[in-house]
Amino acid sequence: MSGRAPCVVSLRNLVKRFGATTAVDNVSLDVGEGEFLTFLGSSGSGKTTTLFIVAGFEDPTSGDVLVDGVSILDVPPHLRNIGMVFQRYTLFPHLSVFENVAFPLSVRRKPKAEIEAAVTDVLRLVRLETYADRRPNQLSGGQQQRVALARALVYRPRFLLMDEPLAALDKRLREEIQGEIRRIHQETGVTVLYVTHDQEEALRLSDRIAVFSHGRIEQIGTGSDLYNAPRSAFVGGFIGNSNFISCTVAEGGNDRCAIRMPSGQICAIRGSSPMATGQLVSLMIRPERIGLSTTASQAGPDCAIKVRICEATFLGESVSYKVTTEWGQSLAIREITGKSQDVPLNSGVDAYARWHSADTHIFAT
Ligand SMILES: Nc1ncnc2c1ncn2[C@@H]1O[C@H](COP(=O)(O)OP(=O)(O)OP(=O)(O)O)[C@@H](O)[C@H]1O
Ligand SMILES: [Mg+2]
Repeated sequence: MSGRAPCVVSLRNLVKRFGATTAVDNVSLDVGEGEFLTFLGSSGSGKTTTLFIVAGFEDPTSGDVLVDGVSILDVPPHLRNIGMVFQRYTLFPHLSVFENVAFPLSVRRKPKAEIEAAVTDVLRLVRLETYADRRPNQLSGGQQQRVALARALVYRPRFLLMDEPLAALDKRLREEIQGEIRRIHQETGVTVLYVTHDQEEALRLSDRIAVFSHGRIEQIGTGSDLYNAPRSAFVGGFIGNSNFISCTVAEGGNDRCAIRMPSGQICAIRGSSPMATGQLVSLMIRPERIGLSTTASQAGPDCAIKVRICEATFLGESVSYKVTTEWGQSLAIREITGKSQDVPLNSGVDAYARWHSADTHIFAT
């Protein structure tokens, strides 16, 4: 989404305390028109509580929720015009698929013909038009979630909240419905606030991801922002796979510093923030940014450390290595097959792990 899109939902300094627990700790963000924004974080990080405040199921301790620039805190949940889909969606078991989807329109006392047309349309959208007469217990879990989605969309809400809607489904079904959700988002252009603790799902679906930790947003950005420019070790470790090496700053500086690896070797690194000499830091490097070779000096990568191959797994398009450093740490390396002339190295072989200092990230510890 473009950063210039008008803002639909704004969270302003939201705080929610339950006794001594601060579930939501000063969360602020803007969701753009048509944007798919995901809250990603581990269990207990405050994702559901934040969503519940937007839905009106919880009142914030302080802060505000604006929709189209107007506070909705005094608007009761059923008048907030928000569609909702949750992990365990309680479809009405005694109603057919059609009646379940029609429910939000029936309670709004819409004319019968209008209901008929809207339900037919939205069932077509979720590809369940031939299931209209079934009861929920005659549907698979994935189909039930698609009914729940249809029911959330049928009255054209201002935006959609989804809290782990796929968590109860098996992996294959989850991926299938992820594809459906993407298509439906593209076809309807509906604004979505989505919650998951599955990073792959977040990357697959979202325009932007807000990484939650301890009730706070650690970082918000596109998947590639978070992957390529994590602002903390937490985000770097949470999105994608990473290696972390504990190092010391041998020579500090404002934009360049020398990092001493545990082996004693020095690597020159361009840091994003000033580093002081003697400071302990964590050096992060992605597995696919490390190359392996049997010779130390080659043009290109400016960091090289000695390693021993422990495990080499051929995965078709890539080879995944586990190697051990001289100081006994295990590192993951992933080499794309066919990029070099080299045949995969066997376990037990001594080699050099080499990378460009520009591909490292340094975090204060
Ligand atoms: N009604 C409540 N009373 C007391 N504490 C609560 C309540 N609801 C949530 N909490 C606490 O607030 C924190 C955040 O909970 P929340 O449900 O928002 O996390 P979450 O990120 O959705 O986690 P999960 O991934 O497990 O769903 C947790 O420590 C939780 O125990
Ligand atoms: Mg939750």
